[in-house]
Amino acid sequence: MRPRARLGALLVAAFLGPVTLLACDRAPSGASLKEWSAADHDGEKKTGGPTGKQGARGASDAGGAAMLVEATWQSQCATCHGPGGHGDGPQGPMVRAEDLSKDAWQAGIDDAQIEASIRNGKGKMPKFDKLPDEVVKGLVARVRSFRGR
Ligand code: HEC
Repeated sequence: MRPRARLGALLVAAFLGPVTLLACDRAPSGASLKEWSAADHDGEKKTGGPTGKQGARGASDAGGAAMLVEATWQSQCATCHGPGGHGDGPQGPMVRAEDLSKDAWQAGIDDAQIEASIRNGKGKMPKFDKLPDEVVKGLVARVRSFRGR
């Protein structure tokens, strides 16, 4: 009985070992977002082949970008800023993240400054200099949408 149990454990280890490695090999969603570039998107379009649905495809691209912005906000920003930008994410109080919904704050900053703070970081906020342009612009619009909420 004993040797068999050991063999079983060995088999389990042999089986789970590679699976665990594979799981670790997978980049977390945040990291893979950063690798995305506009060039990837062009590739997607070309491999799609001619279907004559350019309009529809254009629309779904825009939807894809919006989803990427949303995913980026939720995974990279909401940890500090909270889902609605109030600075109430799990790490928000620790770093004293700005309440981005405040009128006074919104009125005192222009889009270029918001973009620069995202790209270069500010105070305890890390820089996000690997995000595609499209996503940074989308995040600026996202930040603007918090105004007065
Ligand atoms: C580690 C926590 C943290 C994360 C993650 C984070 N921020 Fe911030 N953010 C801060 C802090 C803290 C401030 C206030 C910085 C200061 O004024 O010193 C700030 C400030 C800002 C500001 C105001 C900048 C200014 O010029 O006044 C914007 C806009 C902003 N963050 C957007 C974002 C976006 C978009 C993301 C995700 C891509 C993000 N933040 C991720 C902590 C964070």
